[in-house]
This record gives sequence, C-alpha cells and structure tokens, in this order.
Amino acid sequence: MNAKIHAKHRKQLMRMVGDGGIAILPAAPLRTRNRDVEYPFRQDSDFYYLSGFPEPEAVIVLVPGRAAGEYILFCRDRDLEHEVWHGRRYGPEGAIELFGADDAFPIDDIDDILPGLMEQCERVYHTMGLDPTFDNRVMDWVNTLRKQSRSGAHVPYEFISLDYLLHDMRLFKNRDELRLMKKAAKISVEAHKRAMQICKPGMYEYQLDAEILHEFQRNGAGWAYPSIVGGGANACILHYTENKDLLKDGDLVLIDAGAEYDGYDADITRAFPVNGRFSDAQKEIFELVVEANLEAIKQVKPGNHWNDPHNAAVKVLTRGMIELGLLKGTVTKLIKEEAYKKYYMHRTGHWLGLDVHDVGEYKLDNEWRMLEPGMVLTIEPGLYIPHGSRGAKRWWDIGVRIEDDVVVTKDGHEVLTDGLPKTTHEIEAIMAS
Ligand code: GLY
Ligand code: MN
Ligand code: MN
Repeated sequence: MNAKIHAKHRKQLMRMVGDGGIAILPAAPLRTRNRDVEYPFRQDSDFYYLSGFPEPEAVIVLVPGRAAGEYILFCRDRDLEHEVWHGRRYGPEGAIELFGADDAFPIDDIDDILPGLMEQCERVYHTMGLDPTFDNRVMDWVNTLRKQSRSGAHVPYEFISLDYLLHDMRLFKNRDELRLMKKAAKISVEAHKRAMQICKPGMYEYQLDAEILHEFQRNGAGWAYPSIVGGGANACILHYTENKDLLKDGDLVLIDAGAEYDGYDADITRAFPVNGRFSDAQKEIFELVVEANLEAIKQVKPGNHWNDPHNAAVKVLTRGMIELGLLKGTVTKLIKEEAYKKYYMHRTGHWLGLDVHDVGEYKLDNEWRMLEPGMVLTIEPGLYIPHGSRGAKRWWDIGVRIEDDVVVTKDGHEVLTDGLPKTTHEIEAIMAS
C-alpha cells in the first residue's frame, strides 16, 4: 500500500477545490457474474487514485479547510461473522489507521451525516452522469438540506463536475506513479518474452494467454484488460479476445496484453511468427510497422502536439504501402483522403495510467494538446490486411501492431517497454533461444 501517494493526490485536489467546496466520490459497485457469484472487484480509478481503499460500498468526502478533518471516508463496518465467510474488511477504524482518513463512519450512516457536511459548503464537486444512482443520492442529500432550510440550514448552490479537475491531475504522473507504471511495464515485457519463447505450431491461443497470465500473477499483478491472442486471420480483428484457435505453422500471432500493478496499467502489443521465422511477405508488412513505431516514438517530446506521433506513423505507413503496391497515388493525396484507413483504421495511441485508455483531454481550446513531462501514452501503429483484400493476396491475413508505452520527459521521452524484442531480427533471436 502506498498511503503517501494517495495523500499527495488528495492534497493536490483539495487545493484546487478550495475552501467552501466539497468533493464526493463513490467506490465502484460489486457486479454479479452468475447467480450468487460476483465478478472480481476492481476499484474505481478515481476513487483509488485518491484513497487506495480497495473495498466496495464506500464513499470519499473531501472538505478542504474543515477544522475537524478534511478527509472523511464512509465504508462498510466490521462484521466478524460476515468476514468469516466473505473476507476481511478494514472498517472505519482501519480507514483512519491505515488509509489516512481524518474521520471515518459506517456507510449505513451516510444519509444522516453527509447532509451536515454539505451544509458547510457552497460548491459540490462530483463526477456527474456516470452513475445515475449515485447522482440521485447526491440530490437526495441536497433535498434533505432544502427541507431543513426553513429552520436555517444552508444549502450548497453550485454543482460542478469533478472530472475536469481530477482527470487533468491524473494525466500527469508523478515519480511514485511512474515507478508503478515501470513495474507494470516490466512485468508485461517479461510476459510477452515468455510467450515468444514458448510458442510453437500446434499450440492454442489460450495456451499463450495462460502463459501471459502466469507471468502477471507470479509477479503480483493481474491483467489491465483481457489479453488479445490472435493467430493468422484473427490478428486482423482489433478486439479479438476469444483466444480459442489453433496456432498454425506459417502464421503470425498478435498478442496485445498488459499487466495492472497496484492499479497502474501497461499496454503492449507484439506480433511474431508462430514457427519462429518470418516469411518474406510477413517481413514486408512487419518492418514497415516497426519503422512507423520508431518514427512515432521520436515525436514524443515536450512541445510537440498530441497528434504529431500519429501523423508520423501515418506518413511512414502510407509511403510504405505505396512502395509495396497496397495503395496507389501520392503520399500527400492518400493521407488527405485517409486512404491508409483501409489497412490502418485506428489511431496511434491513447493516454495510459490507472485506466488503460486513461483520462485526460486530447484537445484544449479545440487544438491538439501539447505534450508535457509526466504524460504517459501508447504508441501503437499497425497494419491489418484481411483475407480478400484486392491486389494484396500476398499479405492476406497478416495483422501486425507494435505497441509501446512512452512517458514524456523533460528532454524527450522514455520508453517504459524497452527491453522487449521489436525488430524481426530481435524476435527471431529470442524465439530461437
Ligand atoms: N489494449 C487496448 C489498446 O491497445 O488500446
Ligand atoms: Mn493501447
Ligand atoms: Mn493494446
């Protein structure tokens, strides 16, 4: 547990919310999987960012400047009998002792206590519209105060979406967060290497999936998103997650898999030949995507715009597709007409953090945002040539994406996923080892 990391985040947010404000955030709900079995619980990322508290049925309340305590946590009470069946709970005592709450109360008392905390405030900050049930509860608490207004209760009058402040904060990773992201990246690199080393024709996609998961879990991590393991034609389905087919001699396999470590995510993609040797046709597509990946990464530096890496990747891929004969025309015209989208239909990346597609605006004042130190993004160009593509028979069923995680630094960038083979040469070498 990193209580200090979360305390820093709360302090920073409370500075922005300021005196007279109150911020209210609910924990993620438990979800039923089947009958009385629940999905494994995953805390809401905003909630985790501010508290590190890992339980459902909890609410964070931040009241900057409140003399009796600025950080109040509502959570499930201890219940020894229940805990024997369903696992330990921290309870309000644990929330104070271990998670730095100034004050903590049983969640069942929230309707009695929260209106009183709101009464001292003018502005209510919460993530509106994401959870209608919670939105209604916030309004219920306000209405409780309204009913008491004739007996002198003060009712907050401004309601502000918390997302903007909080998500802009989350976009900039501090040193502690980067340490966790490096760890998530390192574990993911090892998992991809393991898959490359173990792969051979006759295995099934789910067996590589299992190897990846093994490497995540033995390092105290889980998956950041369900792994994609697509052999042959399956590599051309961007969100293929069935992972059920046989891996065939002569095919490529694409793996998009990343670990989540203490809440923070990695997101890596590589493709490699099932039998360990690239064919000439595979090499032609693959080497183009490697070049696009490297050129895009070069564009990651402070002062460049969010879209610069994407533009660089599109340029390399378009030029390369013309050289191969996959597209006909001039680079400028084909880019203007977005002809490349036939084989490269997604963007070159996204923010990365507690969420794999992390929060944070990509544009400010309608302009692509400037890259700044502390931002973490993926660089993930690809080419996908589905069966039946006209004039492209040589490359049918080849799908390649090469995805790395990159942090913007003061002087340029650092690739968190360095160390994972990327070129055809490096991949053939590790697969032969
Ligand atoms: N793994 C999801 C993505 O690459 O965006
Ligand atoms: Mn990604
Ligand atoms: Mn990915």
